[in-house]
Amino acid sequence: MRQAGRYLPEYRALRQDRDILEMCRVPELAVEATLQPLRRMDVDAAILFSDIMVPVAATGIDVSIHSGVGPIVAEPVRSFSDVERLRDLEPETDVPFVAEAIRLLRKELSVPLIGFAGAPFTLASYLIEGGPSRTHERTRALMLSEPRIWEGLMDRLLRSVLAYLAAQVEAGVQAVQVFDSWVGGLSPLDYERSVLPTMERVFQGIAGLGVPSVHFGLSTGELLPLMRLAGGDVIGVDWRVPLDAAWERIGHDVGIQGNLDPAACLAPWPVVEEKAIDVLRRAGGRPGHVFNLGHGVLPGTPVQALQRLVELVHERTARRAS
Ligand code: CP3
Repeated sequence: MRQAGRYLPEYRALRQDRDILEMCRVPELAVEATLQPLRRMDVDAAILFSDIMVPVAATGIDVSIHSGVGPIVAEPVRSFSDVERLRDLEPETDVPFVAEAIRLLRKELSVPLIGFAGAPFTLASYLIEGGPSRTHERTRALMLSEPRIWEGLMDRLLRSVLAYLAAQVEAGVQAVQVFDSWVGGLSPLDYERSVLPTMERVFQGIAGLGVPSVHFGLSTGELLPLMRLAGGDVIGVDWRVPLDAAWERIGHDVGIQGNLDPAACLAPWPVVEEKAIDVLRRAGGRPGHVFNLGHGVLPGTPVQALQRLVELVHERTARRAS
């Protein structure tokens, strides 16, 4: 999950008034932002500092990320000709800085490095809405009324996502996370018809890369069995579904990531502790649980709460030497 960010004073100092996408394009800055949380906390992995909109911007789409708002796309994609204008990502020439940041990080890191991409639906939602949306109604309307445009868009995004992830693995990431953050707004039937086929292809493609994958979305309670079907070695869940119920829904033969409410980290320590222990209790000591927040760290989160949380999880899950 997003572990870099504004809750860290050193991140705010690095970022200043720099554009976040610009930061992602400078390997030295991306490396530093990736390493900052690791210097503070004994987390078990690093996640590459980048953004899901980086490959979109790199193919010539006018997109900017507004602080406190999210990605804004100047000319939303709504017609077939808009879709035809999108070109496939060529990682070597479009995003060479990503591979460079990964190579530099691998030299520095003693924990595994996780790469990531936005899933086609979530990327499409920004492209169609033109920005963040609570309801994604234009996206759902287009998906339901213009299947030809929708499939054209999903196809193009699928190709770019797979090329992007392959380039990250080639450069050295040791696991990948696919963020379908906004897919939870769909009904299971619509997911099955309009998103699942693309997501199956995403994970078939990833299977060939030889690294484990995490498949994440928010508000996915009703979609979990279908997301499981789509693929991923680990399914990432938010705090809305109790971890044990979520694991039942996806089956215990797949891993699970989650799912402490990030807002809990703003509460007094005893609350954080109680909620974290509850997550661990629901995981029941089974192998295949990746403890995490259910979404990114919120600005304003005390660093100390996260430090204590990491320590707590390590203490409670330490495997006895056999
Ligand atoms: O965890 C990390 O350290 C890796 C960095 C990372 C970023 N974005 C950098 C970033 C990751 C993994 C992402 C993924 C991302 N970006 C997603 C999928 C995961 C999720 O959170 O659901 C999405 C939907 C985006 C799009 C995006 N970028 C949003 C919604 C925002 C927040 C806007 C805001 O200010 O509230 C961003 C900005 C962004 N990307 C930040 C970070 C650390 C926020 C800090 C900043 O503005 O400097």
